[in-house]
Amino acid sequence: MMTRNILPTGEARMTILRLPGAADIHVHLREPGDTHKEDFATGTAAALAGGVVTVLAMPNTRPPLADPTTFQEAVRLARAKARCEVGLFLGGTAENAEIVASVAPQAAGLKLYLDETYGPLRLEALPAILRHFQAWPGPRPIAVHAEGRTAAMVLGLVALFRKPVHFCHVSRREEILLIRRAKERGLPVTCEVTPHHLFLTEEDLPRLGPFGQMRPPLASRADQEALWANLPVIDAVATDHAPHTIEEKQGPHPPPGVPGLETMLPLLLTAVAEGRLSLEEAVRLTATGPRRIYGLLEPPQTWVEVEWGGSWTLSREGLFTRCGWTPFEGLTVRARVRRTVLWGRVVFEEGTIHAPPGSGRVLFAGLDSR
Ligand code: DOR
Ligand code: ZN
Ligand code: ZN
Repeated sequence: MMTRNILPTGEARMTILRLPGAADIHVHLREPGDTHKEDFATGTAAALAGGVVTVLAMPNTRPPLADPTTFQEAVRLARAKARCEVGLFLGGTAENAEIVASVAPQAAGLKLYLDETYGPLRLEALPAILRHFQAWPGPRPIAVHAEGRTAAMVLGLVALFRKPVHFCHVSRREEILLIRRAKERGLPVTCEVTPHHLFLTEEDLPRLGPFGQMRPPLASRADQEALWANLPVIDAVATDHAPHTIEEKQGPHPPPGVPGLETMLPLLLTAVAEGRLSLEEAVRLTATGPRRIYGLLEPPQTWVEVEWGGSWTLSREGLFTRCGWTPFEGLTVRARVRRTVLWGRVVFEEGTIHAPPGSGRVLFAGLDSR
C-alpha cells in the first residue's frame, strides 16, 4: 500500500491512497432475465468505478443459475459483457443437490437461500438442505442467507458435516456472537457484513422508505454496534449490491435490495478518516479477507487510487449502476475513487470507464475462461 501527500499541510489535507483492488464477494448482476435492473456490462462498470476489480455474482436470476445449461449461458454472457473479474455462484434448489455438485469446480460456490429473499430460489425443507450439505464437494464454500435461528441451525450442520460455510450479510448481534463462538471452537465458518448494515439502522427507515428495504432488513443500533465491536470476527465487507429500478422501489410491491458497489470504499475510508477502523483493517475487509474465503488470487498489476481527506457528497449523479440511485444519497464522505488499474490498464479514471464490455474475465469456469 502506498500513500502520497499532495497537500501536506493546512486544513484541507488530502492524501492519495494506493490500495489493492477490492473484491466484492456478494453482488446481484441480474443477468439473465432482469437486465432492465442491471447487466454484466453495467454492474461491472459500477464495480470499477467503486474500486472493485473482482465480483462474485449471485444465482437468483431468471431463470436461476441452478442447472448446468443456464450456468453455462450466464458464463457466456459474462464473457461477452463483463469489464472486470467475475465469478458465478450456483443456486441450490430442492431437486438439484447432485447436479450442482457435479459442476462445482466451475462456480465460486453454492448459494443456499434459507430465509425470505428476492427471486425464485428459496429452500424450505430440511431434507433438501441436508442433501446439499452431503453432496457439495467444495473446496469453495457453501454460502448461506441464514438469519436469526436459521444461522444457529446452519452452525449445527457445519459441526456435523465439517464443510466450509460462509455466512452472507450478517446483520444482528446474536448472529455475529454465534459466529464468533463457532470460530473459537474451530468450525470452518467465515462471514461478511454489508455497508448498509454498518452505516444505516432501522432509524433511517422513515427517511428512506422503500429505498431502505432489503433482506436482512436494517437492524437496531445495538445490532449495528455489535458488528462494529466484532470487526475481528468479520472476514469481509460485501455489498449485497441488489439493484432494482426507482419505479419498482416506488411501486406497490417494492422488491428488497439496495445497490452498493460504488459507495463501499468511500464509506469505509470515511470510517478510517473518523478513526473507527484502521486502513489496514479496511484493506483486510475489502481485499485480502474476501479473496481468502473463495481462493481468489489478486490480479497482477492492479490497484485503486483514492483521494482521501477531502469532502464529497454521495449522489445518484454519475453512478454507473443501471438502477441509478443509492440509499446513501446526500451523505458526506471523506474519500473518492479517482482511478482503477486492472492488469496494468487504466479501467476507470475521473468518472470515465475505459474498459469495454468483454474485457473482463470469468473465474473458475474453465481453462479457456478468458
Ligand atoms: O435485499 C435483498 N435483495 N436480499 C436478498 O436476499 C436478495 C436481494 C436481491 O436479489 O434483490
Ligand atoms: Zn441474501
Ligand atoms: Zn444478496
